[in-house]
Amino acid sequence: MNSNNKLSTIAASYKTDKLEHGYTNVYENYFERLRDKRLKILEIGIADGKSLLTWSDYFKNSKIIGIDIHKIDTKEKKLDRDNIEVHQGSQSDENFINEIINKYENFDIIIDDGSHLKKDVIKSFHLLFPFLNNEGLYVVEDMQTSYNHFFGGNPFDLKYSNTHMNFFKHLTDRLNYQEIANPFYISDKYDAKITNISFYHNLVFVRKGINDKSSKEVINHSYEDMKFNEKSSRTGNSFKYYLKYKVFYKIYTFLFMIFNIIKKLLLLRF
Ligand SMILES: C[S@@+](CC[C@H](N)C(=O)[O-])C[C@H]1O[C@@H](n2cnc3c(N)ncnc32)[C@H](O)[C@@H]1O
Repeated sequence: MNSNNKLSTIAASYKTDKLEHGYTNVYENYFERLRDKRLKILEIGIADGKSLLTWSDYFKNSKIIGIDIHKIDTKEKKLDRDNIEVHQGSQSDENFINEIINKYENFDIIIDDGSHLKKDVIKSFHLLFPFLNNEGLYVVEDMQTSYNHFFGGNPFDLKYSNTHMNFFKHLTDRLNYQEIANPFYISDKYDAKITNISFYHNLVFVRKGINDKSSKEVINHSYEDMKFNEKSSRTGNSFKYYLKYKVFYKIYTFLFMIFNIIKKLLLLRF
């Protein structure tokens, strides 16, 4: 196999289903500029090893690490190559994932093509995302399982159910966490750590990076405090703006928050 071939050509030669799913074109957009770098790439889910062989050819300078809950015969699957390493264990077994992290320390690309069960997809993300390098990519395949109750998904409540698709949809709020005008905002472990989330047909890409630019609209999650500082320093009239922003609008915000808490409780949206 010519190592300069396009990803789709390599994928076709190994007959990986990433091609028929339409994933390789999306991957190529992200991976083309990375293919000569020395990366650590972790894929959850090996099966016949077709994708590991594809990555091994495409990223010839990188280390390809595959994990699978089942024992993989590396000789039989022709995975006994210098740049491929394979481990047996479950993607949601914390001890096993910690062993993988202790061995490799960090990753540049993580691809979850494992069980596609909600509990595993979300748990693996929590366990592995902290060990993704900045500018690194976390990819989850086969997100259609989120719309299928046999995988822990929910086809009947697309908006509020606790599915893996909704987990990633809600993660998009972490991109703008600075802007949330809730003075009681409780910070989230993914705040400031995600620079991009992209959704494709059955695929999600999350890019890690530093996202800590301050808001221009709110100060410490308070619109009233920002406005009070701005107006009182511009006009010198602190008393008027104190009453307006620190008293009147703060009461309004507090009542709006109470209304939303009651609404959430009544509609059982947790
Ligand atoms: C879709 S196949 C992987 C295909 C492979 N990535 C490819 O593109 O050629 C899914 C694999 O995930 C493995 N798997 C299922 N549950 C798992 C778990 N909890 N942890 C790790 N691997 C799991 C299965 O054994 C199976 O080999």
